[in-house]
Amino acid sequence: MTIRELTLDDLDACLDLAGGRGWGREERKWRFLLEGGEGYGITDPAGGLAATVILTRYGSGAAAISMVLVSERYGRQGLGGRIVQHAVERAGGATVFLNATSMGRPLYERLGFRVTGAAAMHLGVFTGRAAGASRVAVPGDLKEIIALDAEVTGADRSETLARYADFAAEIRVIGDGREITGYAGMWHNLTNTVIGPVIAPDTAAARALISDLASQVDRPVRVEVGEDRPELAAWLDGHGVTAGMRTSDMVLGGGPLPGDRGRFFAPIMSALG
Ligand SMILES: CC(C)(COP(=O)(O)OP(=O)(O)OC[C@H]1O[C@@H](n2cnc3c(N)ncnc32)[C@H](O)[C@@H]1OP(=O)(O)O)[C@@H](O)C(=O)NCCC(=O)NCCS
Repeated sequence: MTIRELTLDDLDACLDLAGGRGWGREERKWRFLLEGGEGYGITDPAGGLAATVILTRYGSGAAAISMVLVSERYGRQGLGGRIVQHAVERAGGATVFLNATSMGRPLYERLGFRVTGAAAMHLGVFTGRAAGASRVAVPGDLKEIIALDAEVTGADRSETLARYADFAAEIRVIGDGREITGYAGMWHNLTNTVIGPVIAPDTAAARALISDLASQVDRPVRVEVGEDRPELAAWLDGHGVTAGMRTSDMVLGGGPLPGDRGRFFAPIMSALG
């Protein structure tokens, strides 16, 4: 069973594999990740896919691994380890990071990933009001957003963010009157709207950006919040967006991730950081 590259023709098989593991058939998300990253898979001789992984590069310095799935019938036979190792090798010398479920974590630890933090998935209908502190981003803001994002993440996410501008339902920016000091976006998934990324100068600005986005949505919103953000987590809990599943942030060889993470409040999605 050899590892091959995935294309958009494999999208249905990816969704079947995800569905078989109790994950949603998140077509928009898979399409976004496959178009911007490198998907690898193992064909199931019986039809469909036995395993998947997606590698998303941020320039040559950093790369995210996501969508690690092995179909149940091929579980515990080493496919998961093989396909993640393949993605790591393809990443070259980049700093490789990922967000792990409790099921995936031992596999990554065996490959040399170390836990650098934990996050909780907050989900629910937002009960707060708009803060009115941000404005909708316009195409002319993209350059400044990309520069701010690079300062905070220490990575060149320009290609991903340029594509995210079309993928997102809305991107908002906040500033100090002179320049943009924070930005956040939201995008529609199957049954909820994900708020992310959230990059802000402080917690109050992060809350304002989230309020201005989430107050427009009448279905559940989802935000991934790091355990190093107890204030933000408590505020979300108090506004209907409550903590659920916990995951581990992991970096190959251990952290820390580059950039000024003090201004990083939420990832684009857990698959991308
Ligand atoms: C997590 C997941 C990808 C692991 O895939 P996998 O192919 O079963 O992984 P591996 O076979 O490489 O390793 C799993 C276990 O099988 C063991 N194993 C591997 N080859 C084996 C073999 N030939 N004989 C016996 N055991 C074996 C490994 O040592 C490992 O044991 P451990 O969990 O006790 O450490 C899979 O369970 C999955 O898709 N889960 C649902 C989705 C998910 O949570 N993905 C992770 C997202 S972060």
